[in-house]
Formats: sequence, C-alpha cells, structure tokens
Amino acid sequence: MVLALEKEPLIYIDGELVPKSQAKISVFDHGFLYGDGVFESIMVFNGVAFKLKEHIDRLYDSAKVLCLEIPMSKEEMLKTIIDTVKANGFRDAYIRVLVTRGVGDLGLDPRKCPKPSVIIIVDKIKLFRDEAWTQGVTAIISSVRRDRVDATTHEVKSMNYLNSILAKLEANAVGADEAIMLDDRGFVSEGATDNIFIVKDGVIYTPPRTTGILPGITRSRVMKLAEECGYKVVEKDITPSELLTADEVFLTGTAAGVVPVVKISGRTIGDGKPGPITLELMKRFRQVREDPSEGVKIF
Ligand SMILES: Cc1ncc(COP(=O)(O)O)c(C=O)c1O
Repeated sequence: MVLALEKEPLIYIDGELVPKSQAKISVFDHGFLYGDGVFESIMVFNGVAFKLKEHIDRLYDSAKVLCLEIPMSKEEMLKTIIDTVKANGFRDAYIRVLVTRGVGDLGLDPRKCPKPSVIIIVDKIKLFRDEAWTQGVTAIISSVRRDRVDATTHEVKSMNYLNSILAKLEANAVGADEAIMLDDRGFVSEGATDNIFIVKDGVIYTPPRTTGILPGITRSRVMKLAEECGYKVVEKDITPSELLTADEVFLTGTAAGVVPVVKISGRTIGDGKPGPITLELMKRFRQVREDPSEGVKIF
C-alpha cells in the first residue's frame, strides 16, 4: 500500500491504493460488461463504521448466491476496509465495497473469469436535498415492479441495479424524489434504493423480505429501535391503498438514514409534514449510528 500523500481520495484496487483520478479497471471486467458482481455501502459517522461487520456478512451472502468467491476472508476484508478508511483519514465518509467477477472474455460465462477483483472506494455521497429530513421527500408508485425473488432479486446486492434505475427514471420524469416499487403481486416492496415503513394508528408496518426487498441493515436496526421506543412493529404485506392512506411513511437506508415521505403519487401523506413517530426515530437513529458499540470504531 502507498501512503496517503494525495488530497484526492485513495481507492483500493486488488491490493493497491491509487488516487481517485487514476483508479481504473479493465473494460473486460464482467462487472462492467454484465453487472456481474456484488457491493456494499457503509457509512462512517464520527469515526465509527456503522454495522460494518453486518455489511461484510451481507456482501459474502450476496457473493455466495452468485457463486462468486471473494479472494479474502471476512477478517481480511474487515482489516482492508479499515486500512483504506485510515489511509484516507476521513472521520465521516461513505464506503463502497465492490467485488466484481473480474476480467474474462466477451462471453458471459463466469468460468472464464479466473480472478475476482476487490475495490474499496472511500468518498462522500449525497442522496437527497438538505431539506429532505426536515420537510420530507416526495415519491411516486412506479409502474416498474420489483424483480421477483426467483429472478434478479434485490435480496442479493448485486451490481445490476437496472430494476431500480428504471423506477428512478419514472420518478425523475415527474420531479419526484423517490420511486416506490410494488412486487409482482401488487403489494408494496421498497424504494429504488431504500426500504419503506408506514405508520397507522401508532403501529409501524414494513413489507416482508418475500416482496423482493434488500434486507436492509438500517431497516433491521430501525425495527429494533422502534421497539425500544415502545412501538409495535409488524412485518406484513402492504397494499398501495394502505400506503396512500397511512398516517406517516418513511424510508430507511445506509446513506440516508430515516427519511420522511410526505407525498406519494399526488396524495398527501398525513398532514403533509414529517410525522411525530418518523421524527422521533430519525433523531434516535442519528444517535445510534454514532455509537461505537453499533459498529467498528476506526478513529
Ligand atoms: C434496493 C435497496 N433497498 C434497500 C436499501 C437499504 O439497505 P441498507 O439499510 O442496508 O442500506 C438499499 C441500500 O443500498 C437498496 O439499494
């Protein structure tokens, strides 16, 4: 590894740290040619990499489904991620870990790719406007259905995000911040890059994994947090009507945390302002994610 002399972020590629402007991979990498690879996004808040070990577990689970052998142990992955964040020196950062199938020929057969590549990017990310957390975001119910659990399921965090991108394009076309996707039966699944919750009469509901969602690490912690706050949390199928008539709706994700949704496909949610339960969970979650016992302390 080289020392962090450059100002631009240093990117880890297969054992080397290279400046962002020089971080390049082959056009014959099947991650590029076919979206054949897996990834994780992790946030570092005030020197704590929130739920880093859980993200590593999910990365290896995703790779297992794709028969993609990650060329290092989970312990080595943990150390490599920590070393890369330390080399960059950011106390607050966004980490993207990718494992691609690696270089092969132009056919899609993974057997032609002998060596998977590991890439770790440490940078910043901004998903929503600054007002998103105070005023809430708008969303649409997309006509693009979440891929089925027996298809290119988002339970696997793969480098193929076209299902979400098609939905996001619909949201962009009408100026909405996010697209909410239904599963193939017509029940609510998740946002393009986040999980969804509704609140009705003081009870919190979220769709189950069978709707094809990514089993979100934020989702899981927020469910536990809500219970710690005394709320009942129920995983159940949610119809589009239940979504539109909810008292509160919020999204969860690694980079965004807890985000209130105040309008969906032209219908105002509740009174059009972030609801009290959403605001409480947002505030509590911000404390949780900086707690060293909730992740790995890097600095
Ligand atoms: C499709 C999808 N669903 C949900 C999430 C939220 O998951 P997590 O809380 O683990 O970031 C993400 C985040 O990357 C996502 O891409």
